[in-house]
Amino acid sequence: MATDKQGAAYLRENMRGLQFWNPTTIPPEERGKELVRMDLNECPYPPSPKTIAAMQAHADQLNRYPDGTCPELGARLSELNDIPTAQICWGAGSTQLLKSIMEIVIGPGQNLVSPALLWHRFHGAYNALAADVTIVPNKDDTSIDIDGLVGAVGNNTRLVIAVTPNNPTGLTLTEAELRQLCDETPENVLLYVDEAYHEFSVHAGGLDALQIVKERKGPWVVSRTFSKAYGLAGLRLGYAYCSSEEIANAVRLITSTFNVSAFAEVGALAALEDTEYRDFILESNATERRRIIDGLGKLGCKPIQSATNFVSADAGCSGQDVVKEMRKRGVRIGTWHDVGFENYIRISMGRPEDTDACLTALEQVLPMVRGA
Ligand SMILES: Cc1ncc(COP(=O)(O)O)c(C=O)c1O
Repeated sequence: MATDKQGAAYLRENMRGLQFWNPTTIPPEERGKELVRMDLNECPYPPSPKTIAAMQAHADQLNRYPDGTCPELGARLSELNDIPTAQICWGAGSTQLLKSIMEIVIGPGQNLVSPALLWHRFHGAYNALAADVTIVPNKDDTSIDIDGLVGAVGNNTRLVIAVTPNNPTGLTLTEAELRQLCDETPENVLLYVDEAYHEFSVHAGGLDALQIVKERKGPWVVSRTFSKAYGLAGLRLGYAYCSSEEIANAVRLITSTFNVSAFAEVGALAALEDTEYRDFILESNATERRRIIDGLGKLGCKPIQSATNFVSADAGCSGQDVVKEMRKRGVRIGTWHDVGFENYIRISMGRPEDTDACLTALEQVLPMVRGA
C-alpha cells in the first residue's frame, strides 16, 4: 500500500492525490470537427434498429426502478450457455464486475495473481484495492504466461486473473493453456476470466472460454459484455457467469439492487436476438481487421494477430508521438500504457471509410515520426 502520498488524511492512503484520466474527453480544439474514433475498442456502428426500437418502447416506464436481476435476459443467457440464472449477475459494464469480484474475494493483505499485460483498468482496480498483487510478466510474444501465473500462486492467494482475448494484445489463450489454467489453479482460489471480446474470438475460430472454464472443479467467474459486438458501450451492461449462486449473490450485494438501468435489459435482450445484425458487425470487423493488419505490415509496423475488434502493433517509433500526429489529422488511436512497450499503438476497428482515413494518415505520420 502506498504510504508516501500527500493528500486528504481522511481518505484511505491509497486513495489520496489520485489523477483521473477521462478517455472520452474531446478537447476544445477538436470540438465540432469530424473525428474518426478508433481508440476505445468501441463498435463503429450504432445499435441495431430493433434494439433502439425496444428501448424507445420502454421509455415510458422509466419512472419505475428496474429489476436488477434482468430475469428475461438471464433466462435467455442461461438457456444459451446452460448455466442457472441464479449464477448470472449484472454490472454497469463488465468493468464494474471485475472490480466487484476483486472486492468480494480479496481481504486486507491477501494476494491476487495477474498477468502484467492486460487491460489497463485492472491495474487501476488493483491500486484502488491496495491488494497484494503478484504481477507475472507476459511471454516474449506478449501472450499470457500460464506456467508463470499458476507458479506464482501462494498460500495467501485468493484470486487468479486472465483475459482472453486479451487487451491490449488481442491474443487468445489456446485451449491447452486455458485447460492448464483451470486445472492448476488450486481449488481454494477463484479463477476469474474476462471474456469481453468473446464474440470476436469465436467468429475468428477461437475459444469459447466459458465452456472450458465451467468444467473446472474449483470456483470461477467468466465476465462478458454487450459493449463490443452488440454496439452497446453506452448502455453499460456487462454480466458474469459464476460457478455458484453464492458468488453471484456476493456481487449483487456489493453492486446494488438497481445496479443496471431500466434500458439495459430490454436493449440487450433485443440485441441478443438480432443475430443478423451482430453477424454483420462481426463480419465487417473481420474485414477491416484484415485491412488494418495488412496496411500496418506494409507501413513497416509489426502488427499482432488479433482475435478482437482492435489491432496492436509495434510502430517502430514512439507510440505517443504517432497518436498525437494522428489526432492532428482527425484520427484517434491509442497506445499501450506499459513500460517497455512505448512503441506500441492500438487501433480499434472502424467502418471501411475509417480504415481508409486511418491508413492514409498513418502513411503520412509514420515516416515523419520515425525520421524525427
Ligand atoms: C478486456 C476488457 N474487459 C472489459 C472491458 C470493459 O467493458 P465494459 O464496457 O463492459 O465495461 C474492456 C474495455 O475495453 C476490455 O478491454
